[in-house]
Amino acid sequence: MAWQIQCTASPPLLPSFPPFTLKSTSSISLPLPLPLPLTRSSRFRSTHAPSPRPIAASFSAVESTTSTDGLGNSKTPLLEVKGLTAVIAETKQEILKGVDLVVHHGEIHAIMGKNGSGKSTFSKVLVGHPDYEVTGGDVVFKGENLLDMEPEERSLAGLFMSFQSPVEIPGVNNIDFLHMAYNARRKKLGEPELGPLEFYAYIYPKLDLVNMKTDFLNRNVNEGFSGGERKRNEILQLAVLGADLAILDEIDSGLDVDALRDVAKAVNGLLTPTNSVLMITHYRRLLEVIKPTFIHIMENGRIIKTGDSSLAKVLEEKGYTAISAA
Ligand SMILES: Nc1ncnc2c1ncn2[C@@H]1O[C@H](COP(=O)(O)OP(=O)(O)OP(=O)(O)O)[C@@H](O)[C@H]1O
Ligand SMILES: [Mg+2]
Repeated sequence: MAWQIQCTASPPLLPSFPPFTLKSTSSISLPLPLPLPLTRSSRFRSTHAPSPRPIAASFSAVESTTSTDGLGNSKTPLLEVKGLTAVIAETKQEILKGVDLVVHHGEIHAIMGKNGSGKSTFSKVLVGHPDYEVTGGDVVFKGENLLDMEPEERSLAGLFMSFQSPVEIPGVNNIDFLHMAYNARRKKLGEPELGPLEFYAYIYPKLDLVNMKTDFLNRNVNEGFSGGERKRNEILQLAVLGADLAILDEIDSGLDVDALRDVAKAVNGLLTPTNSVLMITHYRRLLEVIKPTFIHIMENGRIIKTGDSSLAKVLEEKGYTAISAA
């Protein structure tokens, strides 16, 4: 099967995305292992000199970083964020003002908070979005200093992000894009790359998971997709690529009730005892299907409260004022 795409124009949010040709027999040299709207530039690097010391202190969001289960086995966190501060790169306006968060393997964390409280900024800073500069704090992912990694390295290390507003990538069709991203990950893991037919066989059953028609594979990434279709496509990407930590920013926004159920079911179907989800949402209805281990409330660039799922009920009934004041 001749399978070739030509990308002659850089997509809007991928200024460093090079013109490329993908043939079924060629090796893939696309620098992005994941569909992240990021560029490779020095701005990815934290302006904050990474601390060589391991994080050992306890955080406010969760009491202890390395805890033990009932059997006395130690639980090493998947993600540890301590005192993370970040500014908008252009204006130096501080948005994150000391975020503390610990995510262990197998946990589902939800972040809620008023519009503009910094939730999306936090998730974008975690994946290394170039719009932001880290000015302080530490982030350790799987024992490595995340802030020291390029965005591509972060995704290859097992971090996935579904953006609040997924970007279009004109001229690049969905299946080719996913194929490249998937093979980049396999290469990193030292596994042989899949050819087009093998990859098709791999992806085909995953379409059912998100209730997507095969036509979507041959359309350009997110081009002309409805809001709900984009969200389904994000979960398809997650299903294909897998992740140790999936950050889902308002995966429920713009979804009708059936689509919400499909997407939430798909996310639940991808959960294993070792991978984790960090989801941002405004609505309890999502949390009723993907049940969180912890809910965090973000306010003015910080996590100001952490609780169990009952926090969402309080929020729905009494609003954020009750939580801020509590
Ligand atoms: N690149 C940017 N340029 C200018 N302002 C920004 C940028 N990124 C974030 N901000 C500002 O930072 C604040 C936090 O934005 P953020 O998108 O993180 O909020 P949010 O909690 O995700 O809100 P929402 O619930 O509405 O999605 C907002 O006031 C926003 O306007
Ligand atoms: Mg947001």
